[in-house]
Amino acid sequence: MSKFRSTKPNRAALKNRVDAAQVKSSKRAKPKVPQVKEEEPAELSSYHFFSDATELRLFRSHLLSWYDQSKRELPWRTLAVTEKDVNIRTYGVWVSEVMLQQTQVATVVEYYNKWMKRWPSVQKLAEASLEEVNQMWAGLGYYSRGRRLHEGAKKVVTELGGEMPRSAEALLKQLPGVGRYTAGAIGSIALGQVTGAVDGNVIRVLCRVRVIGADSTSPPVTEALWKMADTLVDPERPGDFNQALMELGATVCTPKNPLCAQCPVQSHCHAYKKVILQQEKDVKRLRSKLDPKQNSAVPDIENCLIGSCNLCLSEGWDGELGVQNYPRKPVKKAPRVERTLTCVLQRQSDQGNVEYLLTQRPSKGLLAGMWELPSMLLEEGISERKHRSLLSAEVQRILGTSADEESFQYLGEVVHIFSHIHQTYVVYSASVRVPADAEREPKTCWLTDSALQEAAVSTGVKKVSTKTNNRRRRRGGLIHVHLSWVNSSDEDYVTNSVINW
Ligand code: ADE
Repeated sequence: MSKFRSTKPNRAALKNRVDAAQVKSSKRAKPKVPQVKEEEPAELSSYHFFSDATELRLFRSHLLSWYDQSKRELPWRTLAVTEKDVNIRTYGVWVSEVMLQQTQVATVVEYYNKWMKRWPSVQKLAEASLEEVNQMWAGLGYYSRGRRLHEGAKKVVTELGGEMPRSAEALLKQLPGVGRYTAGAIGSIALGQVTGAVDGNVIRVLCRVRVIGADSTSPPVTEALWKMADTLVDPERPGDFNQALMELGATVCTPKNPLCAQCPVQSHCHAYKKVILQQEKDVKRLRSKLDPKQNSAVPDIENCLIGSCNLCLSEGWDGELGVQNYPRKPVKKAPRVERTLTCVLQRQSDQGNVEYLLTQRPSKGLLAGMWELPSMLLEEGISERKHRSLLSAEVQRILGTSADEESFQYLGEVVHIFSHIHQTYVVYSASVRVPADAEREPKTCWLTDSALQEAAVSTGVKKVSTKTNNRRRRRGGLIHVHLSWVNSSDEDYVTNSVINW
């Protein structure tokens, strides 16, 4: 246990409980969940909640014993227990929690170590430029996260006298990009505050252990989960407890193929109980079919006693899914469909290197401030001929030099599914002759492949240049561009790239 945490639920812990309650009440300032008036908050039966004190104690103890034996050693965990300076401790956990939003632990570790080496304190981060932050973040995806960390660091230095906020409530109120979960996680892990922290992994674990099968994003479920997390959290080791729940969700109680046989809280899990009862029922039914004299009666699966409960499964139990019946998510909105005309424009530098033209994205919105290949959104039904004339005009606008429409070589289409956009890149390439010192639009630059690897560009663009270079080498100097965003780890370019050449 950390020496910074109280070993008893003492005065500080009691104060922290008050802070935790305030965190809950402060959601009015930054509502994470739309409040729907018509829906009453769920009545929490023991079927969906932990109301027995002995069970509560056992659940904590089973989970924490497992965590003590099985937890992964992670740099932010080490920092949380060894760093004496509360500002550095809070800052370090903040950085880790922001990086861990939507990114796997294994990917985050390397970025985290590099970041903390370069900016070991909030003051150091505040001195950095956004360009440096974007460059460091390149490849992690969801770039607004890095920008918000940077904004937050500047705010701590200029408005809060360099002192990190000291409670989950203050973190939520004062730091951009810090929501209810992140505030709870930092508050419990770095500050020893007794408050829950409900992220995607915790949602899954809690929905399974207490068979919550209604839409896990609905207001009554969200409120029930936060209430449960605030009740369950161990008052003596809140940070470890919250991380143990996350760890369980990430490594055992996984979305697919959960390892129920290895689960430390299996005996507390109502979803697991339901699976076992279902299996017994199936076996008895089979036996009674083979031998009709056998008694086929099986105790009924325990059910919620509240009529029209807003936490129960809205659709029936699917025997094939087992514990994976929980949680249930709403059907996603169909992604927006877009087509984007993109050009890999290259030139030979005076030193004989191939350089690529990059343009900077606007400072707000998707991939804000990042560098990318010259691109433009396409309207429907535009011919290949028109593509070439659009590209020629764009090159003229950016470089002030004309490019023959016929010099644009059509490469093919790259379909890319962002989280909310179904994007089709229509890709062309061209080579141009422009002297190094020629005038061009301000937000543009020419980069060699190696410079590009270090720049604030998304993983997709880096892969383009690498592939292009490899192709060129193989073809003895002839420039044949081959584009690929396949398997990009950059979550702004999430999944499923399809290339049709
Ligand atoms: N995901 C979010 N926070 C985490 C943490 N502290 N450890 C591991 N995974 C996490």
